[in-house]
This record gives sequence, structure tokens and C-alpha cells, in this order.
Amino acid sequence: MKVHIVGGGYVGLVSAACFSELGHEVHLVEIDKAKVDAINRGIPPIFEPGLEELLKKHIHREFITTSEYDGITESDCTFICVGTPPAPDGSADLRYIRSAAHSIGESLKDGKDPHIVVVKSTVPPGTTGTIVAPAVLDASERRDGTVTFAMNPEFLREGRAVEDFFHPDRVVIGCDDAHACRGVSALYDRIDAPIVTTGLAAAEMIKYVSNAFLATKISFSNEMGNICKKLGIDVYEVMKGVGLDARISPHFLNAGAGFGGSCFPKDVSALISLAESIGEDPRILKSVIEVNESQALRMITVLESRIGNLCGKQVAVLGLAFKDNTDDVRDSRSISVIEELVERGAVVRAFDPLANASMSRIFPGINYYESAEGALTGADACLVMTEWPEFSLLDREFDRMASRVIIEGRRILSCDGKEGICW
Ligand code: UGA
Repeated sequence: MKVHIVGGGYVGLVSAACFSELGHEVHLVEIDKAKVDAINRGIPPIFEPGLEELLKKHIHREFITTSEYDGITESDCTFICVGTPPAPDGSADLRYIRSAAHSIGESLKDGKDPHIVVVKSTVPPGTTGTIVAPAVLDASERRDGTVTFAMNPEFLREGRAVEDFFHPDRVVIGCDDAHACRGVSALYDRIDAPIVTTGLAAAEMIKYVSNAFLATKISFSNEMGNICKKLGIDVYEVMKGVGLDARISPHFLNAGAGFGGSCFPKDVSALISLAESIGEDPRILKSVIEVNESQALRMITVLESRIGNLCGKQVAVLGLAFKDNTDDVRDSRSISVIEELVERGAVVRAFDPLANASMSRIFPGINYYESAEGALTGADACLVMTEWPEFSLLDREFDRMASRVIIEGRRILSCDGKEGICW
């Protein structure tokens, strides 16, 4: 099939590369010319395992990136993959969705063939039907039923997005038109996963509810961890027993410093804001955020209980990315921890295998090291903030510290003498 994808961010770029691998002809439309140049040279502007290989394989062949909307009428469908950042009140800011819908509509004006506009961005329920569809139809002046709509949420995890694309647990397709539904399903013909078809708004809601539920599992595990630690019980042993209940599942029960990233905090806040706008008080969701906000700061409480006043102390922070396998620091739990360390006068010695550069844009004034060993040498204490698998190999590097005080926010180390935030 021929596919246009609007938005060359994380979701759009990964989807574009993966749809090309599935044999589709993909045109990616990205307004940022620097990004377009990088992608056309086969260099992904984000770090994502497997993405560069796919780009190099398909770019200028099945996969073309431009800043123009040209040629949309020749495509079977256009995906909207633009960002929906949080507005100041926590709700989803839909300005990029509106402008993409308008531009797509204008580009479809002179077309005659059937075309499906598919929203992949995470949007509040109702957006595809009541904002995107009217904007496209108004601008295209094609109210003859030849332009149809679908909503196809993504469930990709950063750091594992390419793998997740090819091996999803399910593909959700929301549509109220049989042609749209068939067309979007056909794109995934070579993917072995159940296809769940729903109405447009239900598909939009599935994405929010999935992320809210996963975030709830994490905050719940963290609360259990905080209780377990006081009782002298290992929450990881507990969750191993709990997660084997098929009704619960073992996934996303890892207690620690809390969840970060561009999705969970933003999507839970957007769902809270949506619920409040219709007169509901989403108490569970509010607690999920509240537990998460205070969880990372427990790293500081444990640290102070070990080394006292932090003023002038050298504190190594291992892990800056919001999770392993990415250079993304958006809403990373290490941000609030570093803020607090700086506030209390500690000297921060930071290291991340990939995210030093991204974090230095937020904290230009702290010290960055090229290795864990560099950050640890002479440090009075160390905080482990990200679940990088390579941290599990660290041991003798801790002997280079002034005192071997190791506090873990993720259960990743295998050396002796460490203390967990909630275990
Ligand atoms: C999340 C969802 O997992 C994806 O399904 C979804 O598509 C994506 O958001 C999105 O909406 O785009 P992502 O944020 O990339 O993916 O990463 P996760 O692997 O879900 O981790 C999120 C955060 O939760 C990380 O900070 C991680 O350290 C933390 N986490 C995860 C825990 O603290 N405990 C766990 O058990 C699992």
C-alpha cells in the first residue's frame, strides 16, 4: 500500500521505517528540515535500537522523507503522528493535530480516489470524530464519502519500539466505516497479532486506559514497596508471587523510583483533566501521579539517612534517561532527584551511557562523566536512577568511591552492599 505519515517524531519515524519493512511505500512528512536531512542521510534523530538499520535499508527506496504534503492523493492513507503535548492544565494540547488535519485536507482537495485519514497520535476520545474529520472534510471539500477516518493507537515502548511494532500484543483499529477498517487492517497483514476493531472514540480511550493502567501498576508496586521496606520484606519477592497470578501478570510490577518518559505522566494527567471536565473526580488516577511524584524524592530521604547533610557532598548519579536503551530524559525521575541534590548543595557527578548530552541541556552546571567509574571516583554516595542492564556488571568500580554508599532506585545491581529505595 502507499502510505503518508505526518510527523517525523518518535512514533511517526518508527512507524514509517517499520511500514517500509512490511513492504509498503511510505512518504514521511516532517516540517523540521534538519530532521528531514538527517533521516534522508539514514541518520535517525532519535536513538532507537534497530531503527538506523531500517532507515539505511529503505531510505530513498520504499521510504521517502520530505517537508511537503505533495502526493497525498496518490496514497491509500495518511497517518497523523504529531505530538499532543500537555497544556498548562494537564489536558492534551491539540494544536498540531488541528493543523495537520487542515493541511492534509487541503492536500486531498483535488483527489478523487478513496483515502483514509488515520490518527495514531494519543488523543482524547472524540478527537478523531469531532476535530480531525471535520477539519479534513472542510479543507478538502470532499464530503462525498471518499475520505474516511480511523484511529490506530500505538503501544510502542521507547528503547524497544521496533521490536514492539513487529510483535504487538494486539493492533487496535477504531473506525466507523468498513472501507477504513479493511484498509488499515491490510497494512498489518504481515503482523501476527489479534486485530481489535472498535468505534473511533473507544480506540482513543483504549490508549489512555492502557497507559493509565500500566502507570497504576507501577505506583501500586511502589506503594507496596514502601510498606514492605518498613516491614523488612523484599517487595520483589512479594511481586514475584503476586505476578504469577494470571489475572495480575508479572509485568510492570517493578518497584523503584517511579515512572518517567513522555507518555505515562502526560497521558495520566490528560485523563485526569478529561475526567474533571465532565464532572468526575478520578481519585485513583490522582493518587497514581501523587505516589509517583513523591517516590523519586525517597532517594533523597534514604541518601540523607545514610550520609546526613548533603551540602558539599559528592553524589554520583548513575542513569539519567527515563529508562534504559534510550537517550530520552523527558520527565525522567533523575531530573527531580538532581534538582533536589543541587538545591541541597550537593556536587552532582552524573553518568548515563546515552543521555549525558540530553541532560546537559537541562542541567548545564553539573559534572558529566564518560563512564560510571569516572562518576564514582571519590564520590561520597551513589544513586542508581535508570535500569541500564550494563549497571548490573558494576562492582569494583564502587571501590573507587570515598565511601561505598550505594542507593538503588531500580533493582539492577548485582554487587554487595547496596540499599534499595523501597526494598
Ligand atoms: C509506555 C508504554 O509502555 C507503551 O505501551 C506506550 O506505547 C508508550 O508509553 C506511549 O504511550 O507512547 P514508554 O514510556 O516508552 O512506553 O516506556 P515504559 O517501558 O512503559 O516505561 C515507562 C516508565 O515506567 C519508565 O520510567 C520505567 O522505568 C518505569 N517502569 C516501568 C517502572 O518503574 N516499573 C516497571 O515495572 C515498568
